[in-house]
Amino acid sequence: MSVLRIQPSGPLRGTVRPPSDKSITHRAYLLAAVVRGRSRVVDPLRGEDCEHTLACVEAMGARAEWLSSSEVLIHPTPEWRSPAGDLDCGNSGTTMRLLAGLIASRPIEATLVGDASLTRRPMQRIAEPLRRMGAGVEGDRPPLRIRGASLSGIDHFSAVASAQVKSCLLLAGLRASGATSVTEPWCSRNHTETMLRSVGVEVEESVGFAGHRVWVSGGAILAPLDIAVPADVSSAAFLMVAGALVSGSEVVLSDVGLNPTRSGILDVLDQAKVRYEVANLRETGGEAVGDIRTWHTPQPRQFVIEGELVPRLIDEIPVLAVLATQCYGTTEIRDAAELRVKESDRIEKVALGLRAMGAEVETFADGLAVAGPTRLRAARVAADGDHRIAMAFAVAGLIADGTTEIEGAESIQTSYPAFESDLASLMPI
Ligand code: S3P
Repeated sequence: MSVLRIQPSGPLRGTVRPPSDKSITHRAYLLAAVVRGRSRVVDPLRGEDCEHTLACVEAMGARAEWLSSSEVLIHPTPEWRSPAGDLDCGNSGTTMRLLAGLIASRPIEATLVGDASLTRRPMQRIAEPLRRMGAGVEGDRPPLRIRGASLSGIDHFSAVASAQVKSCLLLAGLRASGATSVTEPWCSRNHTETMLRSVGVEVEESVGFAGHRVWVSGGAILAPLDIAVPADVSSAAFLMVAGALVSGSEVVLSDVGLNPTRSGILDVLDQAKVRYEVANLRETGGEAVGDIRTWHTPQPRQFVIEGELVPRLIDEIPVLAVLATQCYGTTEIRDAAELRVKESDRIEKVALGLRAMGAEVETFADGLAVAGPTRLRAARVAADGDHRIAMAFAVAGLIADGTTEIEGAESIQTSYPAFESDLASLMPI
């Protein structure tokens, strides 16, 4: 287990291009493996989670040809074959859930396995609808054994707003008879829909009493993908908050994906009156992209996260809880019970670590309340193998009064391999 040591920092200054978007990279690899023809992916995320996705599709016949470390051609196979061994999804729920949808709709069999954290995570949310579509699925937690079949489209209501559930079923629906629809209480990240449209699939949507509904019809022929992946707002979030909290800072995060289904953190910065600016707004591959500059903000205000905002910033909540420790008033985070089934129970882990650092945190079944502002003191805290918890504590460590030690920091490799060096590049020499 590796321990990350963080010292209090002087002003953070400079520009960082955060790592590429994890969600978009997963989807690019998966779709490239099922389209007709060779796809090109520029700037994919080279973190462990996405490398697992690529290895899994290669195990079923796709071939990756790297032109450089940041550009890959993917040659799909006309017919997927059953993999020779188990498919290792590592720490990645996105790999397991999205891949399950593609396997379920093909005449192959596979067993999907993961690390200790992934093995604890719920798969019933995809297993049950995939069974209703006609696939053989065993295991409501990993390992997940899937026997693919000719599927029939279904109308599925997901009680949680989950892009992983939605994407799994839409991907399965591409080869199902009839239409497959997913309704969720609020619209979760829509990268799958955007990418499907870019390869020629008709994706329809409506908003009604039950929530946001999206559907596809089976049988479309998919055109190859040519995509440049923007930086991940969920990774940018750590340095954005660091810039807001560390005295004298001015930090620019460039090329950041600002898809409205992902940009909830900007709503929080508005509520908290954090000084920031978005510049150079543009579009790549149907995704909004921009550069975000944050300045140190001496007296940020409390904020509220609930309802439709939750899926728009679900992965940013650990670091937003760190921001909340410095905000005037009590910040409330509600409707976020999903945090308990992420890479760790993020409600408990955030509360444990921040309390150890002197913060006032109350937990609920579906969220947290953080009373601020409090001075943070250095402590030894446990990330419990959860990359976002590790990086959130690192940001807290920048404003604590000594050396913060973060256990289990190797998990940062899953999404942000260059986190330490990017942070160091902003620190005074
Ligand atoms: C993801 C969706 C989210 C998010 C995860 C990545 C995706 O999970 O937390 O890190 O790429 O679809 P849920 O869809 O389960 O909320």
